[in-house]
Amino acid sequence: MESRIRIDYSALLPFVSEEDMAGRQERVLEALGVLETGTGAGAEYRGWIRYPETVPREELRAVGEIAAEVRQEAEALIVVGIGGSYLGARAVIEALGHGFAPLLPAELRAGPLVLFAGQNLNGRYLEELLEAVGEKSLYVNVISKSGTTTEPGLAFRLLRKHLVERYGERGAARRIIATTDARKGALRKLADTEGYRSFVIPDDIGGRFSVLTPVGLFPMAAGGIDIHALLEGARAMMAPCSVPRLWENPAALYAGARNLLWERGKSMEILVSFEPKLLLFAEWWKQLFGESEGKEGKGIAPSSALFTTDLHSLGQWIQEGPRTVFETVIRVGTEAGRLAVPADASGMEDGLGYLEGKRWAAVQEMAYQGTKIAHHQGGVPVMVLEVPRLDAGFLGQMIYFFEKACGISGYLTGVNPFDQPGVEAYKNNMFALLGKPGFEKQTAAMAETRKRFPRGKVV
Ligand code: PA5
Repeated sequence: MESRIRIDYSALLPFVSEEDMAGRQERVLEALGVLETGTGAGAEYRGWIRYPETVPREELRAVGEIAAEVRQEAEALIVVGIGGSYLGARAVIEALGHGFAPLLPAELRAGPLVLFAGQNLNGRYLEELLEAVGEKSLYVNVISKSGTTTEPGLAFRLLRKHLVERYGERGAARRIIATTDARKGALRKLADTEGYRSFVIPDDIGGRFSVLTPVGLFPMAAGGIDIHALLEGARAMMAPCSVPRLWENPAALYAGARNLLWERGKSMEILVSFEPKLLLFAEWWKQLFGESEGKEGKGIAPSSALFTTDLHSLGQWIQEGPRTVFETVIRVGTEAGRLAVPADASGMEDGLGYLEGKRWAAVQEMAYQGTKIAHHQGGVPVMVLEVPRLDAGFLGQMIYFFEKACGISGYLTGVNPFDQPGVEAYKNNMFALLGKPGFEKQTAAMAETRKRFPRGKVV
């Protein structure tokens, strides 16, 4: 690996000084130690820390073989999952794939179309998905650790029926690949009964930390991503992110700085990128930090923006709104930008002639520099994650870096970074409203809250 991603701290100054950080060092290193030694809450879910080097060879081989079959035989792969069983794979596939993959002729695509289902409860989405798939040769990868999550469960019912109707029971069973728990859960049982090929989500890795397990690796490999380079990238960050010295450990530095900012009233972090392909990566990041830290009334609100697009929408709020926000910019090296601004003979007075011959990458670079300075002047601390290139290796580095920082940050915040008790609240109400047996008590509790609603007006 020629180089690694780096955190540039300079535009945090003077909001967070080096002295401030030095004063925080002990607490950050303590949180790092708690994470590494497994002495904190949720310690049983730290399998992801070593997984990039402990991933079973057999599993990796099977991922490669079945992905090759899918690439050979499928025109479309529908990946069914939600939350941690969905976002990572989509983030990497979108980051590394062609920006307009669905519009490319099949021979120019890196593999089958990788489509997603089970990440919402919208019937029209599924109708349109099946309409778009049409007669295309189809495989399905259903991903659920519990096997009972409503959104993917319902989508899988529909897709399984669709596959059986098209290919028969045996044909469908060959085209369904399950990713689930090794032993327990409804999906494991079904996979074993029906003879689906399957991958294991390790017991000690929770959903939002599972992107580098078969949860993410299989759909990525089927979509043409070099998963070995991705894992290699993650491995390259293991040592730097465990160094017990603040100024040498990028994950500790990032976690420590954002924790200090939070204590100083910066309650929202915006993950910014100028790279449209990182839109879904930001969604993955939001889940990672939101579910890990947002509990017990604590936690920085994770938000994201794509520049310069959002400078024409959110930009005003960032520049002049409440000063409760800081930015983390993922800055991707611009070497790939070859396109240059053409001369224009139309006579249109667009005032852009001074940019003729300049590379788009150079124009965007100045937009980045200008925005960073403007936001800093406007009272927004800015951290920058320098990423040399958008490739599988650096994506692997970014994933591992953010996961490690998230674990440290959770312990610094004083919460269990590996549970998500709050996710049950909407589910319990929904189950009660849908009449799921066993949720009768929930109906009574909801009725109490609902009594307040009629006093509100609908205008
Ligand atoms: O991070 C998490 O644990 C969640 O986002 C889960 O991944 C998500 O709820 C899906 O759960 P499951 O894989 O059990 O269907």
